[in-house]
Amino acid sequence: MTDQKDNKLPHGAVPQLRVMPMPADANIHGDVFGGWIMAQVDIAGSLPATRRANGRVATIAVNSFLFKQPVFVGDLLSFYADIVKVGNTSITVNVEVYAERNRLQTEIVKVTEATLTYVATDSDRKPRQLPPLAN
Ligand SMILES: CC(C)(COP(=O)(O)OP(=O)(O)OC[C@H]1O[C@@H](n2cnc3c(N)ncnc32)[C@H](O)[C@@H]1OP(=O)(O)O)[C@@H](O)C(=O)NCCC(=O)NCCS
Repeated sequence: MTDQKDNKLPHGAVPQLRVMPMPADANIHGDVFGGWIMAQVDIAGSLPATRRANGRVATIAVNSFLFKQPVFVGDLLSFYADIVKVGNTSITVNVEVYAERNRLQTEIVKVTEATLTYVATDSDRKPRQLPPLAN
């Protein structure tokens, strides 16, 4: 079932990423390929994780991923990403994706929700303690 709040962009929040899928991103049925959406979600989630880690991170886990609605070529996608948990070396990020379809009529649909975990890594690609929060 679709929540009513899923038909509005999150009020006051700034998307980490906005992108429009092209025909080359479609699957054999003409809708957008799930793997393309997963790649964009991984990029969007890595942005707040990289800022919190103040350096490189690697994706260690995709904890959950829900393709709630299809994505169509030409949708304007907004990716909202928020840190939901921080450990010693890891940062877990929730990512929500909204599509503005048929933009002249501004129909908005939440299409995807995911949670991913990133690990701060050093120059040898080994886990690194997260730095203290900057003031
Ligand atoms: C990321 C990497 C360096 C971590 O090294 P590791 O020795 O496996 O990590 P650790 O076991 O020390 O765990 C590191 C952190 O990840 C967390 N973690 C481990 N497995 C996890 C899982 N399945 N889900 C969520 N978090 C997990 C640990 O709890 C730990 O967090 P904390 O320090 O905040 O408590 C290593 O796994 C790696 O290089 N993976 C490949 C990354 C990659 O290439 N990603 C792109 C996809 S191809």
